[in-house]
Amino acid sequence: MRKAFIGLVALIILGVIGFVALTSPSAYRLIRAEASAPDGNRTPNMENGRILFFAGGCTSCHAVPNSDDKLRLGGGYALKSPFGTFHVPNISAHKQDGIGSWTTADFVRAMREGVSPDGRHYYPAFPYTSYQRMSAEDLSDLFAFMQTLPPVEGRVRDHELPFPFNIRRGVGLWKLAFLDGQVFAPDATKSASLNRGAYLVNGPGHCAECHSERNFAGAIIEERRFAGGPDPEGRGTVPNITPHQSGIGGWSPEELATLLKTGETPLFDTVGGPMGAVVANTAQLPEADRAAMAEYLLSLPPKQGFKKPE
Ligand code: HEC
Ligand code: HEC
Repeated sequence: MRKAFIGLVALIILGVIGFVALTSPSAYRLIRAEASAPDGNRTPNMENGRILFFAGGCTSCHAVPNSDDKLRLGGGYALKSPFGTFHVPNISAHKQDGIGSWTTADFVRAMREGVSPDGRHYYPAFPYTSYQRMSAEDLSDLFAFMQTLPPVEGRVRDHELPFPFNIRRGVGLWKLAFLDGQVFAPDATKSASLNRGAYLVNGPGHCAECHSERNFAGAIIEERRFAGGPDPEGRGTVPNITPHQSGIGGWSPEELATLLKTGETPLFDTVGGPMGAVVANTAQLPEADRAAMAEYLLSLPPKQGFKKPE
């Protein structure tokens, strides 16, 4: 009896030590190769930063809700999820309330590793699972551009997450399982435009974050990437964007590029809701970037779309 008790206590202690060790942000760094640091002496390319800002759709979540000025990144949007409601933070250039006093390295770490400057894990409701694909140069340009946007005062309220999702530390385990730490690597056998499209769609564009089914832990199911799924915020379903007949199979690259510019579909419909917000951003990109995204999506293997369970 006594032995069994000591054994149990030992197991619990080991369990706690294991949890603490595996969920520490430094464990994530040790297990996944540390992302290359940005070169501090580089002069940032502001135009590139602007393009990545719109490709990344940061305004969709971080702009002050119901404000016409989407460049005020004061946060406050209540982002619903199956795990609770996230109150999207202020990422404006404000020194105290936003990220105005961050270094470029702090920013790169947040976007690639999902870790805050004070060493806390971010929840993957912040889609760093996609942003981790971005290069250090692109992230430093993006950060430099964001620092030119207006500082907005005020911090937002805490997230409303039920137990156990309110334990930030637990996100460390999630990251070990679902955050691979890989920066986008171009495929030398493919054209430059196809690689550019793949980068924009999978990295900053984070298109799969809405257009895929997710598993019990809220991670994208790889085989279902881009095939559509339930809306992550619970407002119906998101369509299949692979070139299957249940998706965008009949579309030409020009039609797809047009949708990303004007929101119009080949069937004389206009996309709305969350996709309307995406288009407001992709409309700001150079023509060649929209064409590259269209070329890439139409080159994907066709997949049967998501069917809502009856
Ligand atoms: C789908 C919504 C969504 C999008 C799109 C999004 N974010 Fe966020 N972001 C969040 C949420 C939610 C958090 C809070 C995460 C947490 O508290 O763990 C966050 C946190 C952050 C933080 C940390 C802020 C802090 O105070 O520590 C930074 C930096 C950030 N986002 C930058 C960006 C940038 C840059 C973009 C665009 C390239 C972007 N985000 C796009 C939802 C989003
Ligand atoms: C915030 C969630 C979200 C993100 C991110 C997102 N989409 Fe969408 N998308 C939607 C929703 C919802 C619809 C359906 C809109 C409608 O029918 O009004 C849609 C519709 C579409 C359609 C039209 C499909 C059809 O059959 O009519 C295309 C194409 C598309 N998205 C491509 C993209 C691309 C490319 C990206 C990345 C740049 C992207 N989406 C990012 C939510 C999203």
